[in-house]
Amino acid sequence: MSIYSASTTAPVNIATLKYWGKRDKVLNLPTNSSISVTLSQEDLRTLTTATTSPDFAKDQLWLNGKEESLASERTQHCLQDLRQLRRELEEKDSSLPTFSQWKLHIASENNFPTAAGLASSAAGFAALIKAIAKLYELPQSESELSKIARKGSGSACRSLFGGYVAWEMGKLEDGSDSKAVEIGSLNHWPEMKAAILVVSADKKDTPSTSGMQLTVKTSDLFQERINNVVPKRFEQMKKSILEKDFPTFAELTMKDSNSFHATCLDSYPPIFYLNDTSKKVIKLCHAINEFYNETVVAYTFDAGPNAVLYYLEQSEDKLFAFLYHLFQNVSGWESKFTKEQLSQFNA
Ligand code: PMV
Repeated sequence: MSIYSASTTAPVNIATLKYWGKRDKVLNLPTNSSISVTLSQEDLRTLTTATTSPDFAKDQLWLNGKEESLASERTQHCLQDLRQLRRELEEKDSSLPTFSQWKLHIASENNFPTAAGLASSAAGFAALIKAIAKLYELPQSESELSKIARKGSGSACRSLFGGYVAWEMGKLEDGSDSKAVEIGSLNHWPEMKAAILVVSADKKDTPSTSGMQLTVKTSDLFQERINNVVPKRFEQMKKSILEKDFPTFAELTMKDSNSFHATCLDSYPPIFYLNDTSKKVIKLCHAINEFYNETVVAYTFDAGPNAVLYYLEQSEDKLFAFLYHLFQNVSGWESKFTKEQLSQFNA
């Protein structure tokens, strides 16, 4: 039996300039450009193996060991695009095995608990695209493959790269210029760290696609955001990353999270992703920055109540002095630090 396999990983990315709003729902074309910072793959990543054989009877997918459906229109779009690219290679070189006609078995596994409430679809789709592209030996660049990942889940296009990534919204109707590009690799600014505060592991209230549609249709504030706020902020944030200017990066990140959640509140009926604990975390971050009279930490929230905090390695003790003091009775710390290590942070 001939059987071919390829494995790869893709990281979780968290937007610091949020994508919220689609101008084309099928192609997942956004109403604004966005920026993300990729989290370390040691902590958060999806590992995917794609296997193909002429003997497989159907396409199948396993997520964390459990079989899942591949039937969604979005997943089907991705598979069709990848098979088409492979077909083009096979047409040019008849000695290649005809993978484009064979079924696929895909096994995916996250190294973080799904219950952590983190958006895993971005890393999941990115790893799926990368693994099949590797199996098919496709010559396309990450940016080209990001256009396929985008059709699976918009934010997935940014997980094709590590480090600092921009998703350029593009102008064309067919989406051929709506792609991810690297602003800087992970090594560009290695001092940047992220901490995730899991406020709730529940499934999100309003799924992102329906939330976006409602905001686009009903929020007046949204028009101001996409026309006047985000285009300027996109350039400023890119510059702050290239110049490693943390205070500017942090301020833009916090303002953009607030702006995105404001458009959710301005939707009708309103969408609430932040809860009371999230709001306390926001206040805490501002209080920490005021206390030290410098920008130590930035917060950002996606379509849910969990906080992602960005800080520089050299400020870790300053931030953790507060976090440990407030959250020492919360479980989860032990996984990384011993009680003795944590006690040194206790201000
Ligand atoms: O790609 P989706 O459909 O999961 O939407 C992501 C939306 C946000 O996470 C809120 C923002 C973003 O840019 O990732």
